[in-house]
Amino acid sequence: MGIESESVGCLNLSMFFLFILILLPPHYHCSQVYNITPLQPFVQGDTLVSPTGIFELGFFSPNGSANKYVGLWHKNIFPRKVVWVANREKPIAVTGSLASLRISSNGSLELVDGNQNSVWSTNVTIQVSSSSTSSFAAVLSDEGNFVVKDVTKAGQSIWQSFDYPGDTMLPTQRLGYNTKSKKGTILTAWKSESDPSSGIYTVEGGRATEVPAQVIIWINRSTPFWRSGPWDKSKFIGMPDMDDRYLNGFEVEENVEQGTEYFSLKLFDAFAAYIEISSQGKPKLMYSDNGRNWSIYWETLENRCDIYGACGPFGVCKASESPICKCLKGFVPKSHHEWSKGDWTEGCVRKTELFCERQKTKNSVPLQGIQDDNDDGFWKIVGAKVPDYYEYITSFNAQYTPNECKTQCLNNCSCLAYAYVNNIGCLVWSKDLNDIQKFSKGGVDLYIRLARKELGSSPTSRDTLLEYIGKYDPSELLIYDFDTMSTATDNFSITNKLGQGGFGPVYKGILQDGKEIAVKRLSSSSGQGIEEFKNEMLLISNLQHKNLVRMMGCCVKEDEKLLVYEFMPNKSLDTFLFDPMRRGELDWDRRFNIIQGIARGLLYLHHDSYVKVIHRDLKVSNILLDEKMNPKISDFGLARIIEGTQCVENTQKVVGTRGYMSPEYAMSGIFSEKSDVYSFGVLVLEIISSKKNNNFFLYDQQLGFLAHTWNLWSEGRGLELVDEVLGDSYCSSEVLKCVHIGLLCVQDNAVDRPSMKDIALMLSSKTDGPQPKRPLFTIQNSFSHPQLLYERTKSSTSEATITVIEGR
Ligand SMILES: *[C@@H]1O[C@H](CO)[C@@H](O)[C@H](O)[C@H]1NC(C)=O
Ligand SMILES: *[C@@H]1O[C@H](CO)[C@@H](O)[C@H](O)[C@H]1NC(C)=O
Ligand SMILES: *[C@@H]1O[C@H](CO)[C@@H](O)[C@H](O)[C@H]1NC(C)=O
Ligand SMILES: *[C@@H]1O[C@H](CO)[C@@H](O)[C@H](O)[C@H]1NC(C)=O
Ligand SMILES: *[C@@H]1O[C@H](CO)[C@@H](O)[C@H](O)[C@H]1NC(C)=O
Ligand SMILES: *[C@@H]1O[C@H](CO)[C@@H](O)[C@H](O)[C@H]1NC(C)=O
Ligand SMILES: *[C@@H]1O[C@H](CO)[C@@H](O)[C@H](O)[C@H]1NC(C)=O
Ligand SMILES: *[C@@H]1O[C@H](CO)[C@@H](O)[C@H](O)[C@H]1NC(C)=O
Repeated sequence: MGIESESVGCLNLSMFFLFILILLPPHYHCSQVYNITPLQPFVQGDTLVSPTGIFELGFFSPNGSANKYVGLWHKNIFPRKVVWVANREKPIAVTGSLASLRISSNGSLELVDGNQNSVWSTNVTIQVSSSSTSSFAAVLSDEGNFVVKDVTKAGQSIWQSFDYPGDTMLPTQRLGYNTKSKKGTILTAWKSESDPSSGIYTVEGGRATEVPAQVIIWINRSTPFWRSGPWDKSKFIGMPDMDDRYLNGFEVEENVEQGTEYFSLKLFDAFAAYIEISSQGKPKLMYSDNGRNWSIYWETLENRCDIYGACGPFGVCKASESPICKCLKGFVPKSHHEWSKGDWTEGCVRKTELFCERQKTKNSVPLQGIQDDNDDGFWKIVGAKVPDYYEYITSFNAQYTPNECKTQCLNNCSCLAYAYVNNIGCLVWSKDLNDIQKFSKGGVDLYIRLARKELGSSPTSRDTLLEYIGKYDPSELLIYDFDTMSTATDNFSITNKLGQGGFGPVYKGILQDGKEIAVKRLSSSSGQGIEEFKNEMLLISNLQHKNLVRMMGCCVKEDEKLLVYEFMPNKSLDTFLFDPMRRGELDWDRRFNIIQGIARGLLYLHHDSYVKVIHRDLKVSNILLDEKMNPKISDFGLARIIEGTQCVENTQKVVGTRGYMSPEYAMSGIFSEKSDVYSFGVLVLEIISSKKNNNFFLYDQQLGFLAHTWNLWSEGRGLELVDEVLGDSYCSSEVLKCVHIGLLCVQDNAVDRPSMKDIALMLSSKTDGPQPKRPLFTIQNSFSHPQLLYERTKSSTSEATITVIEGR
């Protein structure tokens, strides 16, 4: 670089002035000045210096070029780095006379060539009113800011070079963007080392308007070339080399209300520093400790991973590996051909569609928790440069916790990844995950959403439970505090115990406002409780029918898992039906009403709700009664969802209650809506007779309850089945219809059994069904079948749900 003042050997001693005038051509003169005023123009050969001589402004030619420009640089640090150029787009035409920089009386600073043609101008003027006089001066500050100021107005600046940066940013200079005015300051690289005109690379602070801010280098102002990653208030996440040494080296000022975002370099522990983007688009931070030479603080774009989107969408770049690009877990190359050739730009595609996406295309409400692959999870990348296009999730009251961040992401199917970053908080991504790097040091943990299948099986933990709970609209489902539940149930005292559900006892509770509740406490000892808990919560909170028990909320604390229901003052049906003192309270109208109510509830589960639900554990003790003795089906711990077309499920683990299990389910684990229909049939016959299917055996005839009922019915003695406490006070046609329905339901062959739709029709009309076939299996069902091993999960009561494991 040629500096004019040097090339002419500037001597500013006045005693040599005359001598110089004689020796040099008449148009050369030189002087070092501290300001430019209308009366003292700045002529080619002069230099303008800052008050303590740190910076210098003058005429120069870039290395390898004869073109003349006005620029500024650090006066004593070598090699010289021009940090700002006034007329970068238009060099000064070489003429016989000297170019000059002058200030007009209107405040405009103008560079004119020797022929007085304008080369460059600040193009900023002040309206000079006739009554007041203004006087202007241009000065250079010790920060390197070239300022035109109004000296009559306390030196108010009317123009400054800091607002029009070139390829360099100096400490205290702000690079910024105002999203409202859409105005910003831009760093623009030189076209080449010898040409300061605007090149293709730019840095536009806050251009992407992402919060927290990140710095992006663009090509042609349209294609990203390099990205710093979000600012975490001490460093940029995408720059792992920015360790503690650089702490507070940068400052980012974000003002969301004003829509402004400013990025600046602080003068850390150095004499001088600057950030530059080279004509190749490479950012670097240079510093000088001694005020004489420059050293590199950092330089980025040192490997191909630093180039924006090196591995394409859903790819991850690791500089230390070969090849550098890999697809994220759960993704495969979009084009294997291109990928294998080392062209990674097309990136990768998802192998297994996300569960929430599958739910969407099926056009139904997401409901899950039944099988392990029926949900999404996260895969963690340690030490990542997080992808581009993030959203910063905040809440008004408090910062999100890492868990809330995860839940927030899981709750929204658009969310593809999240990261919880110290000093930032919760970041989520909903667009293609682009420009991810994995560093060997630094970076943050990034969580990628994947279908559960891609993650392998994951143990159920409290976290996943809370995740599940988090899926609910809190207005629909309350999350109770464990201490509140403990207080409400008198520390789960035995006197508050209402009964024993499939997977734990149920307690009566009274909330502080006097509201009565029923609390099911899942046994913490049995690991199986967790699945049932999830299952029941998911199902019940999404199903609503007047003949289904309503869930109010839940509670999870360490091993404790509680489900909270509306309280049913008349407890369960068995407390009446099988109690010699109370069964009389169930007159025929009540019994018939209960049968109809259960049928409606089941019809809803099988046909009318948005998913087909098989209850799998229908029994008298799972029918609760409200204050008007209306039945409500409860205990959905074993319930299963059956997908639209599929109507039969085969399960390895057979669970249910003896006496209510259909033959195909007890023997082979096959369940379908028809296994519920079977249980319903048993229920109906028990309600009519107040007899228990699995407690009834006629030894003289070697007959079980169902076969005995069938015998009575086929001999036209169906009415003999009716509970003797009712005497004659029943409607025979209703009783016979119910016996008929019951027997149709308990037929051995599932295909012969009616659907709940058929049953609803029979109950509400005079329609009669076909003749029921004699149930044979029931004889065996009454005893322990030799080929079946019965395993009681709750030893005490015969009503308890049991697990049957096939003895093969
Ligand atoms: C300009 O060129 C000179 C010699 O040709 C060299 O010493 C100096 O380092 C160069 N300056 C820059 C900024 O490249
Ligand atoms: C300011 O004054 C100069 C000199 O009188 C003139 O050339 C220039 O056009 C003026 N600028 C504006 C913007 O009026
Ligand atoms: C000066 O600014 C005006 C208004 O901003 C603009 O129209 C004009 O082109 C500018 N002139 C130069 C020489 O930059
Ligand atoms: C940038 O623009 C230049 C000139 O128009 C063009 O040659 C170059 O291909 C562009 N580069 C990119 C990456 O768009
Ligand atoms: C800068 O100057 C110091 C002291 O003169 C010297 O030790 C150092 O090597 C120089 N650095 C560079 C990059 O030239
Ligand atoms: C889900 O995320 C998308 C993208 O971030 C957002 O536009 C949408 O509002 C979110 N939906 C909900 C329900 O929060
Ligand atoms: C319930 O348990 C807590 C802690 O174990 C105890 O402080 C409290 O007195 C108990 N309350 C009752 C009613 O037993
Ligand atoms: C059912 O509960 C209600 C409310 O507690 C009560 O008034 C009613 O007598 C009960 N019905 C029977 C049959 O016990």
